[in-house]
Amino acid sequence: MATNTPTSAHYIGIDIGGTGIKGALVNLEKGIVQGSLTHLPTPQPATPAQVAEVVAQITAELTAGTDSVDAQSPVGVTYPGIVSHGISRSAANMDKAFINLDINNLFTERLRRPVSVINDADAAGLAEARCGAGRGTKGTVLVITLGTGIGSALIFDGQLVPNTELGHLSIDGFDAEIRASAVAREREGLTWKDYSVRLQRYFSELEFIFSPELIIIGGGISQRTDEYLPYLKLRTPVVPATLRNEAGIYGAARHAATARTLLAVA
Ligand code: BGC
Repeated sequence: MATNTPTSAHYIGIDIGGTGIKGALVNLEKGIVQGSLTHLPTPQPATPAQVAEVVAQITAELTAGTDSVDAQSPVGVTYPGIVSHGISRSAANMDKAFINLDINNLFTERLRRPVSVINDADAAGLAEARCGAGRGTKGTVLVITLGTGIGSALIFDGQLVPNTELGHLSIDGFDAEIRASAVAREREGLTWKDYSVRLQRYFSELEFIFSPELIIIGGGISQRTDEYLPYLKLRTPVVPATLRNEAGIYGAARHAATARTLLAVA
């Protein structure tokens, strides 16, 4: 849900994807994205310096002419790969120069603001589990994003287990995302019915390993679940994400807020 009423207590959330980078101001107290989203295309090649430049442009655009954020308002940024202690450790769909890069530091220096980076699916998953389709669900919730790759967030009782990378499970000799991502469906020209066979194989494996209470599907095709959910036979309820393209932004901002709180008490 978006609103235009300015208030204090804003954070900035930015979501880096394979094709686009989007951001917004987030009011964590109200649990909403404030105003409209700012989008720019992901630079190609998506080198660290170029991506940092686009993130800086979006931040500048979001903060221009508003008094709801100050020069030190923290920025949460998602990254589509493993992020451990601020270091990016993989780059399945990004420039390989990101591997082993201090990505927190890169963005903090470029933006001159405190920045905390989190895996994209972890950010979206946290937001969905706490404020979206998983709100109130106890136990294990899996949030799976189907896009360029497959992202995963494992949440237990509202707490995230970060960097699960379940899109790279090896299934029938293939990296799962090579066969079951939304882009794989487009690339191979699969009908929804044929694609759902791939999803069935993937989700059955996840169900066998985790016995989750709920599976939430995120990513662009979460808005088209009518096309493939009817074909899936699982004992776990499977539902679409409800925060749509704001989930990553919201989760990133929330992560930045948590990081700031942790620093304040350290
Ligand atoms: C990456 C994950 C990411 C997912 C969605 C995968 O290829 O390894 O870290 O969450 O794509 O972007």
